[in-house]
Amino acid sequence: MTLLKRFVAETEKSEGHTHILLITTGSVASIKAPLIVAELLHYQNVKIEVVSTKASLVFFDAADIEKAGSRVWKDEDEWTGGYRIGDPILHIELRRWADIVLIAPCSANTLSKIAHGLCDNLVTSLLRALSPSTPTYVFPAMNTLMYEHPLTTEHLRIVKEVVKYQVVGPIGKNLACGDVGLGAMTEWKDIVQIVVDKFSLVRKAETR
Ligand SMILES: Cc1cc2nc3c(=O)[nH]c(=O)nc-3n(C[C@H](O)[C@H](O)[C@H](O)COP(=O)(O)O)c2cc1C
Repeated sequence: MTLLKRFVAETEKSEGHTHILLITTGSVASIKAPLIVAELLHYQNVKIEVVSTKASLVFFDAADIEKAGSRVWKDEDEWTGGYRIGDPILHIELRRWADIVLIAPCSANTLSKIAHGLCDNLVTSLLRALSPSTPTYVFPAMNTLMYEHPLTTEHLRIVKEVVKYQVVGPIGKNLACGDVGLGAMTEWKDIVQIVVDKFSLVRKAETR
């Protein structure tokens, strides 16, 4: 039997905490998600929730995220059936909760959806409903030719100039597909560092 997961922003928010929403999409770089979560949880007063597309769930084990002390939210958690007026709506509650959103990695597909305003899964519904005042970082990760595709250039322009997200990377290296070039996600430790610096997070004493 699957347990019904419920999330209400008001009860999940903790005073004085930084609420980090990590979005993972269908790039191999999603494999780094458990590392990002575990590392961020080594800092004081941090809460982190992970929202994943169906494709990204192939690349890591949600149990590893749960073991680290976080949760993974999927499309099925949004569509539980039996909705009644007043029930919490997952994508709205998650965006209400977030102090910062990291889309790490951001696939070419999700990048395109953001640029076009599509909202056909939990990730993109959440992003479409997100307040423009919530800092949102995009870490593209894709094959070099996908990255160099003129459509990607245009989608990145829209995401930066119209949607006003911060785009970081990609970086150049040997890609998982065997190609060498630009397209890899920014190093996961550098992603963590962006959050640490932004919120002046302090590491827990026992993990120094
Ligand atoms: C093994 C494998 C690796 C992939 N790696 C990437 C990638 O690094 N970047 C990317 O944009 N798409 C990649 N794809 C394709 C995406 O997973 C695919 O476009 C998917 O529809 C993305 O869905 P999403 O954006 O909803 O997560 C990969 C597919 C497979 C099968």
